[in-house]
Amino acid sequence: MTKRQTRAFFYAGTGVFGAIFIALTIDSHRQFPTLTHSDRITPAVIAGKHVWHRQNCVNCHTLLGEGAYFAPDLTKITQQRGAAYLKAFLKDPSKFYSEERDRRLMPTLALSDREIDELIAFLDWVGRIDTQGWPPRPILVTGAAIPGTEAVGAPPRAAASSDPVALGEALFRRTPPGCSACHSTAPGVNVVGPSLANAATVAAQRVESPDYHGKATDAAGYLRESILDPNAYVVQGPTFSSGGRSLMPSDFAQTLEPRQVDELVAYLMTLR
Ligand code: HEC
Ligand code: HEC
Repeated sequence: MTKRQTRAFFYAGTGVFGAIFIALTIDSHRQFPTLTHSDRITPAVIAGKHVWHRQNCVNCHTLLGEGAYFAPDLTKITQQRGAAYLKAFLKDPSKFYSEERDRRLMPTLALSDREIDELIAFLDWVGRIDTQGWPPRPILVTGAAIPGTEAVGAPPRAAASSDPVALGEALFRRTPPGCSACHSTAPGVNVVGPSLANAATVAAQRVESPDYHGKATDAAGYLRESILDPNAYVVQGPTFSSGGRSLMPSDFAQTLEPRQVDELVAYLMTLR
């Protein structure tokens, strides 16, 4: 190649690839509003972003992989854990993790209920950004494989049958409602709520016990009541309640369909 040809090659090459780069950049920007659902940026989402910055969540956590790697990535956290869990968690993380057991600790940030709702709105918006598959797999707490909660964060399992027990189990492991964010089905593993490994047997014992003061008369009735009205009878345990009220959300009567409650009860009745 002559000097002239080299120069022409350089200018043409730089020009072509420069143009491709600019075109791709413009194309990406053109897609941002759709990929990020910018029409869903409500005032609560914006307020939540401000709380996120004020509290320096990013000093420990990542969103979309950006931030610090001390604590789990929160990009898809609302889908993984559900709003009910997050509300209780952000109010008092020390109820969920112990420093001795988990070694790392999320500080209790004294957030107001309003700030918590705003944060959840923000995180929920982030979770709906079309990240084209990023992050590739859920990053959960302490590398968390908490036994009996396996499916947390997994894509929703479609129950292959119309069997209420199978449907109930699939629903139990899905977010929402996020039952398995708080309940393990492995024996003796209490997450935030008690292990449901022997739910049916325990339920039968609870209705018989002298200090039971709810309305149920049998195990299935007790399980149904536990879901629809957690405060009818609050199980005692280190993380189960605060100020006498159950940490379990009390709005499943509104957010679940009656059929879904039947399926959950059918599934829990098989855990003996
Ligand atoms: C000083 C570091 C630190 C800061 C600041 C911090 N976190 Fe955390 N957070 C942690 C750690 C550590 C964990 C995980 C606990 C574990 O793995 O045992 C955690 C866990 C969480 C979880 C639970 C994840 C799960 O799967 O259960 C959520 C949600 C969360 N943080 C949200 C926030 C939000 C929102 C903020 C800002 C308002 C914040 N964090 C600020 C350290 C921090
Ligand atoms: C935010 C955490 C949380 C979520 C989400 C949650 N629970 Fe609970 N659950 C608890 C806590 C805490 C208790 C113990 C206090 C009480 O009695 O309400 C409990 C108690 C129960 C009990 C009674 C257990 C016993 O030993 O008597 C059942 C049954 C139950 N939950 C089922 C469910 C089902 C089904 C779902 C999903 C629809 C669910 N829970 C979602 C926290 C949660």
